[in-house]
Amino acid sequence: MAVLKLSSICFSFLSCFYMARRINSVSERWATQLLLAAIIVLYAPSVTCSEAAATQELLKGFKATVDPSVSSFQALLRDSTGNLSLGFLKTDGAYVALAVLHLPSSEPIWVADYPTRLARWSGRTQLIFNGSLVISDPHEKVIWSTGTQGDRVLLLNTSNLQIQKLDSDDASSVLWQSFDFPTDTLVENQNFTAKMTLYSSNGQYSMRLGNNFLGLYANFKQGSEQIYWKHRAMEARAKIVDGKGPIYLRINPDGYLGMYQTENQPVDVQPLTSFQRTINGLLRIRLEPDGNLKGYYWDGSKWVLNYQAISDQCELPSACGSYGLCRAGSGCSCLDNRTDHRSGKCLPTEIGDLCGGGVAKNNFRVLRRKGVELPYKELMRYETTLSLEECESSCENNCSCWGALYNNASGFCYPVDYPIQTLVGIGDEAKVGYFKVRKGADREKTKVGFGVGIGVVGGALMILVWIVGFGSYRIWKRRKALKRFLEEEGGVSPGPYKDLGSASFRSLEMCNR
Ligand SMILES: *[C@@H]1O[C@H](CO)[C@@H](O)[C@H](O)[C@H]1NC(C)=O
Ligand SMILES: *[C@@H]1O[C@H](CO)[C@@H](O)[C@H](O)[C@H]1NC(C)=O
Ligand SMILES: *[C@@H]1O[C@H](CO)[C@@H](O)[C@H](O)[C@H]1NC(C)=O
Ligand SMILES: *[C@@H]1O[C@H](CO)[C@@H](O)[C@H](O)[C@H]1NC(C)=O
Ligand SMILES: *[C@@H]1O[C@H](CO)[C@@H](O)[C@H](O)[C@H]1NC(C)=O
Ligand SMILES: *[C@@H]1O[C@H](CO)[C@@H](O)[C@H](O)[C@H]1NC(C)=O
Ligand SMILES: *[C@@H]1O[C@H](CO)[C@@H](O)[C@H](O)[C@H]1NC(C)=O
Repeated sequence: MAVLKLSSICFSFLSCFYMARRINSVSERWATQLLLAAIIVLYAPSVTCSEAAATQELLKGFKATVDPSVSSFQALLRDSTGNLSLGFLKTDGAYVALAVLHLPSSEPIWVADYPTRLARWSGRTQLIFNGSLVISDPHEKVIWSTGTQGDRVLLLNTSNLQIQKLDSDDASSVLWQSFDFPTDTLVENQNFTAKMTLYSSNGQYSMRLGNNFLGLYANFKQGSEQIYWKHRAMEARAKIVDGKGPIYLRINPDGYLGMYQTENQPVDVQPLTSFQRTINGLLRIRLEPDGNLKGYYWDGSKWVLNYQAISDQCELPSACGSYGLCRAGSGCSCLDNRTDHRSGKCLPTEIGDLCGGGVAKNNFRVLRRKGVELPYKELMRYETTLSLEECESSCENNCSCWGALYNNASGFCYPVDYPIQTLVGIGDEAKVGYFKVRKGADREKTKVGFGVGIGVVGGALMILVWIVGFGSYRIWKRRKALKRFLEEEGGVSPGPYKDLGSASFRSLEMCNR
């Protein structure tokens, strides 16, 4: 155990910075900075960094409980290099995740039972190994279990966590491995198969393989998905053959993202910028909270970007949030020019549709904008209509339609069947957009703005007000998450909207070893 004052300041700073980013509002960010100063002054010296004597294997009978005094990560098991560790990770300031961490960067590589949330950070939450790795909550209810009957747990230097069975002749077989349950990250040599899904930490985006492509999908509306990026296998070195099984994806240590059907030759090669260069550190790709898929390698002191599926910011699925407008070179603004993007977001984020709740026709107002198009229109379904009016009216009368984009030159009409996200601003005035805005949405936004305004009163009082404000923001957010959760449990879809809030993983202090 070492008291690392410097790194704890860093921890506080990062977490506050992270909060500030998430709250996304100028005045609250200001308040956050004051709060940050207060935290540094008051608490920094007491935050400690747990450097528990993590072993290299767990045997039957192993038991560990969460140490309430640990501020961020409690190591339980390490790999042979000492760069990777399995342990309890504190997320969102109050929850336990069982995670494999890359220690030099405090970057989680894998998280158990992702993307749901585990138990609270409490001294009675425990992990045992009795043949299965089992996490139970303070009420001794099993939250997560591998359901195996193994002999030992090992963390390989590839970051793969394995439960092994020891056989009589000193050999071992693998009963369970974390590589088969990826979260938002894949590392080199990890097979990503057609049965797996990668989720971004906010649950909003997912990655899956199709029969001959890799796809990224957005979950803007429960029960439906929108593909926003698709990479088809080039089949240059090998063809995909029917009946030879599904394709799989793997980061090749030579520096490319390969799709394979058999081990012989890849059916597709997407080079990383570190292609054919010798990289000693770990290679990984991650599905980011903004929906991009990015690749990195560890150069010994930091993660270096070496791949981006989407390189143009405006081509991201929701670069400027709901009802946002993204213009190359000039950044974010709002579709509705009466709202200002600098205040945080344009209009509140919607998750459902406009059906129900009375006469569908009267529960929205209409917003029109010229010179806009969808960032991934090539992947959208469209109809051909004779006029803009025809395109608009087919959407107007359909309560599951949130808007429509019309191209006057081609006659293509793209119905949008999920809440409106960010559109791309272009010069071509022949491309026009029709958008529905739920009535009352504007008022809701003003209320939030007012709450923020109260925060800017001044001095210590202001910090207090901010803490209260943040508390209710969290309650509001949690209520929203719960609502979403209940709606999904209602059987519509097993969607991934269980916000782990795990971007806060990055708000970790670094454990100096
Ligand atoms: C391990 O412990 C869990 C929780 O107490 C229990 O449900 C499970 O049956 C045990 N497994 C074995 C192999 O004993
Ligand atoms: C990882 O372990 C394997 C054997 O299990 C070994 O060959 C390899 O050199 C190790 N890599 C590093 C970076 O330690
Ligand atoms: C990945 O898949 C290949 C081919 O099925 C297999 O040989 C290899 O062992 C797998 N790697 C891991 C880490 O599971
Ligand atoms: C582990 O860390 C050491 C230095 O601390 C470094 O030399 C080595 O390359 C790292 N290994 C991996 C796999 O990152
Ligand atoms: C806002 O948009 C409307 C309709 O597109 C337009 O008539 C108006 O001039 C715009 N106002 C400003 C300030 O840009
Ligand atoms: C309403 O819109 C949805 C989504 O765009 C579409 O699937 C459905 O067919 C439309 N219904 C009618 C009656 O046009
Ligand atoms: C749309 O196309 C029609 C005929 O092709 C043309 O008359 C009309 O001016 C165009 N409207 C716009 C806004 O470009």
